[in-house]
Amino acid sequence: MGRIRVLSDQVANQIAAGEVVDRPASVVKELLENSLDAGANRIRIEVEAGGRKLIRVADDGQGMNRDDALLAFERHATSKIRTADELLSIATLGFRGEALPSIASVARVSLDTATSEESSAAGSSAGLSQAGRNSIGTHVEIAGGKILHVEDAVRPRGTTISVSDLFFNTPARRKFLRAEATELSHVTALVTHYALAHPEKHFELLSASHSLVSAPPVTRPAERIYQIFGKETLSQLLPVAAETRLERSGLPEPPPWKRDPDEPPRQPGILRVSGFYSKPELQKLNRNSIYIFVNKRLIRDRLLLHAIAEAYRNIIPPTSSPVVLLFLEVPPEEVDVNVHPAKTEARFRQQSLVHDFVRDSIRHALIAARPVAGFKAALESSPAATPSLIPVPGSPLPGSPDDEPVSGQADPDSAATSESFTLTPRPVSPIPGKLPFGASEMAAPLEQQSLRQAAAALMEPFAGTAEESCSPDYDFAAVARPPQDGAAAVEAEQAAANLNRLGSLRPLGQLRESFILAAGDEGLWIIDQHVAHERVLFEKILRERQVEQVQRQRLLMPLLVELKPWQMVIFAQVADELERNGFEVEPFGPQTLAVKAAPVGLEGGSLERMLHEVIEQSGDGPAEASLNENLTSLRTRIAASIACHSAIKINTPLDPKRMEWLLLELAKTEHPTSCPHGRPIALLYSWKDIQRAFHRI
Ligand SMILES: Nc1ncnc2c1ncn2[C@@H]1O[C@H](COP(=O)(O)OP(=O)(O)OP(=O)(O)O)[C@@H](O)[C@H]1O
Ligand SMILES: [Mg+2]
Repeated sequence: MGRIRVLSDQVANQIAAGEVVDRPASVVKELLENSLDAGANRIRIEVEAGGRKLIRVADDGQGMNRDDALLAFERHATSKIRTADELLSIATLGFRGEALPSIASVARVSLDTATSEESSAAGSSAGLSQAGRNSIGTHVEIAGGKILHVEDAVRPRGTTISVSDLFFNTPARRKFLRAEATELSHVTALVTHYALAHPEKHFELLSASHSLVSAPPVTRPAERIYQIFGKETLSQLLPVAAETRLERSGLPEPPPWKRDPDEPPRQPGILRVSGFYSKPELQKLNRNSIYIFVNKRLIRDRLLLHAIAEAYRNIIPPTSSPVVLLFLEVPPEEVDVNVHPAKTEARFRQQSLVHDFVRDSIRHALIAARPVAGFKAALESSPAATPSLIPVPGSPLPGSPDDEPVSGQADPDSAATSESFTLTPRPVSPIPGKLPFGASEMAAPLEQQSLRQAAAALMEPFAGTAEESCSPDYDFAAVARPPQDGAAAVEAEQAAANLNRLGSLRPLGQLRESFILAAGDEGLWIIDQHVAHERVLFEKILRERQVEQVQRQRLLMPLLVELKPWQMVIFAQVADELERNGFEVEPFGPQTLAVKAAPVGLEGGSLERMLHEVIEQSGDGPAEASLNENLTSLRTRIAASIACHSAIKINTPLDPKRMEWLLLELAKTEHPTSCPHGRPIALLYSWKDIQRAFHRI
């Protein structure tokens, strides 16, 4: 007798469950997506013990009739697609017909559901009004894949699915579950993500009896961000919206014999990008604060992550990541979502077009907005709390095990080899009362606190970078500030103060010979002279390097620099690029270099520090990054380092002419908003704030 046999449905479902259901958050994801596919406007999620004991998702969607309620638990049973062709243009979140049977094979599940047809029928038979709240629906109970019980149930239109004792029959799986708080944080992050993608819907998440997310419907995405993350974060985000007509369709035309002559030729459709991106001063240690939705599906995509990193190139350091909420809308046939069982990845049919469009949309928005750091916001949420240029050793805040550090740039072509997708950045402590907020905020209702707590878990700490004096130590505790004074605030902070008029400012003088004070129509400006000059030089060096016209100067006496043996090895790797940047360096003994020429403006101690810095940073570069990427980032690093070490220092007196010159040069730069390390260059004390402070308005 042969040894091969067909697996039972139960085993097949458990295998599928291994891919689809690996923790409570993935159950919530599947149920939530089903509710959204069913057109629900209100979705309420309850969990107990981080979802291990109970997950209940209730919606007011279209519901199911009795036959469908039973079929839903069959493997490969779906109402969402019929033919393989439809796989090419999936417009729903689900399509595999796998989620419910998989969940039911590893947990005890009960389903209560009713449609509106049954609703009106029951309404009239029970003598209820036309609205007929309750109707005769269906109640199904299933455990370990077996249907235990089916009966009629009276309920309003919609569906409630309860999943209890997750992995009760698969102890090996159960062992992999993390602490309750961790699982709960994953669930919270997931619900928050979906709430961000669907501002017009009502989302609620409750754990035991307290509310973690409570997001009633709002009309605009900005209001949802305000609800979830608070005013501070919203004020650090800028909107982006762009669209382009695709030139061709990603799918090839069917062959002539398959073509329906009556059917019009395929229209290529439109690619739309909308969402929010952070001002340069808001930086994160990892990419967990980048949320990408493709046709409202939350996905993790290397291609788009790369496009975003490219948009911020030279605006924030390559080791930091911005906060981005990106909603991409493409015709369904332009994206293949049938790539991974958990449906968290997507493959675009016109990859480079999508990549470049996203990159350019954000980059152009950033350049056009030239956001200036508001005085108050910068004080509260940025390194400006320690405004000195004294080097402070970088102390990146501890990341959670799920953190995905920003490493070298990803290769856009390797989008297929997507990294694993973690649904949440860090655990939330579910204990009310132990929240990281000030005393006044503790008085807020419990519900609000929990919402903030969820938001705090989502928003990672600021990135702390360890570069020398040019890079500040970021200390951040204020991202998830609570909403303060109503939805009007949503608008207020988006006011378009920008740096376009820097060139017309009138310098008034210096503050402690370190900051330039300047008057403009918008108010009082304070410009950090060191970082301003650093930005000017940085762009100049990159430009000159590009056309191979770097200005170098011969040193009167060669500068001797001692290196350790391993530093000599790294130096050999970067020597060529240094030479192209104006250096002339020769070995002078086994561990000593003689620097004979250097870029203009760089000498003595600064020159030596700069060389050490470049060597140090090159030592721990990402080994796996492609050569090309390495070269570009090396070039950027060298330019940033030369700029930093040759820029005007603080505690340097400047005459009015020099100040004027600096402001003019700064205005000409592409990014007068932040130094290459992401620190703000100019702060504005707005005219409005000044008037307010003097009680004039
Ligand atoms: N909340 C709900 N409201 C209405 N119908 C539902 C709901 N949940 C599930 N269904 C029905 O049950 C079917 C099976 O659900 P299931 O999640 O197993 O598969 P799917 O959503 O079609 O595909 P996938 O496995 O990709 O999620 C769905 O196609 C849908 O018709
Ligand atoms: Mg589904």
